Amino acid sequence: MKKVITYGTFDLLHTGHINLLKRAKDLGDYLIVGVSTDEFNILKNKKSYFTFEERIHILKSIKYVDEIIAENDWEQKIPDILQSEVNVFAMGDDWKGKFDYLKEYCKVVYLPRTEGISTTKIKQDLNVRGEYQTNL
Ligand code: CTP
Repeated sequence: MKKVITYGTFDLLHTGHINLLKRAKDLGDYLIVGVSTDEFNILKNKKSYFTFEERIHILKSIKYVDEIIAENDWEQKIPDILQSEVNVFAMGDDWKGKFDYLKEYCKVVYLPRTEGISTTKIKQDLNVRGEYQTNL
């Protein structure tokens, strides 16, 4: 069985996330998703709308996702790959080159990012609309 792993926050799940998860799953037979904990997000200067538990709850229902693990820090990728006997590490190409050091342990693939959508954009768009409504 070919195992694939990917990592991310996956807040306010959107089509870019779904495309990424499908493309990652298509690289093998079994997809493991490392979901950033709320504490790790703080270290990354991110604050998610949904809690870690809520994001996991949503991701578990996605048919491409076979297993979810917590992403607690930057250093866990090598141990995760070794422990789960991962064959492919996949990330969106906004991370291109950043994880080349993992090539010693498994195949590293940067997948094309979906244009025009991100969690940041959703937050910005809703914020703009919120301001518009309060001005009515
Ligand atoms: N991703 C993607 N296409 C998008 C948005 C995200 O392929 N339009 C991928 C990222 O490259 C990453 C994974 O989805 O591999 C999880 O990304 P995440 O940072 O959780 O999502 P973003 O929408 O990029 O969130 P933010 O705006 O907070 O950075």
